[in-house]
Amino acid sequence: MSLTPAQEALILATVPILREGGEALTRHFYSLMFRNHPEVRSYFNASHQKDGRQPRALANAVLAYAENIRNPSVLGPAIRMIVHKHASLDIRPEHYPIVGSSLLEAMAEVLGDAFTPELRAAWEAAYWQLANLLIGEEEKVYADHASRPGGWRGTRTFQVVARIRESSVITSFLLAPVDGRPVLDHVPGQFIGLTARVDGELVRRNYSLSNAPNGRTYRISVKREPEGVMSRHLHDHLTPGHEVELSCPTGAFTLDDAETPVNLITAGVGITPAMAMIEAYAGRRPIRFIHAAISRDHHAFRSRTDALAHAHEDIQTFYLYEDRIEGDEAHAEGRLQVHHLRQTLIADAPCYFLGPVPFMRSVRNQLEALGVPSEQQHFEFFGPADALD
Ligand SMILES: Cc1cc2nc3c(=O)[nH]c(=O)nc-3n(C[C@H](O)[C@H](O)[C@H](O)COP(=O)(O)OP(=O)(O)OC[C@H]3O[C@@H](n4cnc5c(N)ncnc54)[C@H](O)[C@@H]3O)c2cc1C
Ligand code: HEM
Repeated sequence: MSLTPAQEALILATVPILREGGEALTRHFYSLMFRNHPEVRSYFNASHQKDGRQPRALANAVLAYAENIRNPSVLGPAIRMIVHKHASLDIRPEHYPIVGSSLLEAMAEVLGDAFTPELRAAWEAAYWQLANLLIGEEEKVYADHASRPGGWRGTRTFQVVARIRESSVITSFLLAPVDGRPVLDHVPGQFIGLTARVDGELVRRNYSLSNAPNGRTYRISVKREPEGVMSRHLHDHLTPGHEVELSCPTGAFTLDDAETPVNLITAGVGITPAMAMIEAYAGRRPIRFIHAAISRDHHAFRSRTDALAHAHEDIQTFYLYEDRIEGDEAHAEGRLQVHHLRQTLIADAPCYFLGPVPFMRSVRNQLEALGVPSEQQHFEFFGPADALD
């Protein structure tokens, strides 16, 4: 059902109200939805709710959509990002009426008398316009996964076949499907959705794949968060033989399959998609790998990247440690500065960066200062998308 010009005008008139109160509206929306539909609670990450990042992401999406109601095609990249996230969490068409009715109910509560029947009808039509777009794009992803060799729809049971300590805080888990059949080749940089039962509750999280595709196993590498629900569960309880449910790999933080040079700039556990890229493209393209860690002890995959750099002269590494001690063999001490990037980056090559949000903001500013065009800057968040500027 398309919107009438009068409905479009009503939606556009709502933009200032959403700007003012969009975040409060979505917070309200979540509490209503979880109260009325507890069955969708496990899809959402409670800590993202509490620190406000997830409500902000949804508020921004609704606002962007309202602002562009007459030209929704400008939202292409944002829609793609939402589709990848939803696909990794197995969001299905039957979930959309739950979100839609909760959103409208929250609007009614927040706007009171101003939420006239006409405004409600306009928002309902707008919601379903966006929802149908997402449902259609998500179905394309699910159908594509199911049709490819080793692919599947929904979730598939995997078991841990090995666990490897990569640093004092990061452990890798090698996962193979219990059905013993092949797995879909991921594109290096993609992530999976992982579902496990923690203390009787279903919990879902995303993890980047840290190995090159091999048709048989996926490797995830997880940082233990001292208070984290899933990461503590994986570190403390997941040993070989334990089972988890995985969705198909998805995500657009990927390299094109060319032989052209690339810069990878990571910090902490943000190293994981870069590891998949380095392992997949070693010997096939020049790679400059810049990694920041708290210390040598926190630095995951160091011996692996050293070995790859030793074996392939077109892989060059640059490591920085905040706490450097004698014998660490780091290239610099402290935090990443623009002069480090100036001296190490391959000119005119794309830059892929990932790490804690403050690190990403800093890298973004440094790349801007060095004149790296925005189309050469690629990044992803290990949580809800955040503004870098
Ligand atoms: C695309 C993508 C790829 C990812 N890849 C990786 C990866 O390769 N490796 C990896 O380790 N992680 C990765 N992540 C992050 C991962 O999904 C989890 O978010 C991470 O493991 C933490 O989950 P958790 O359940 O342990 O912590 P949560 O329980 O979700 O808690 C997260 C943090 O919030 C804090 N917290 C909890 N409750 C509150 C509160 N009330 N107020 C404030 N703070 C609170 C916790 O102390 C913890 O530090 C990725 C995320 C995305 C979106
Ligand atoms: C038109 C409808 C919808 C819009 C505009 C929308 C938008 C978004 C946006 C912007 C994000 C954040 C992406 C990111 O930054 O990582 C997101 C994440 C998410 N969405 Fe939706 N969404 C919609 C419908 C749904 C539905 C129907 C469900 C199912 C219950 C759902 C479940 C989720 C979950 C679980 C996440 C991840 C949350 C987290 O990190 O905790 N969404 N969505």
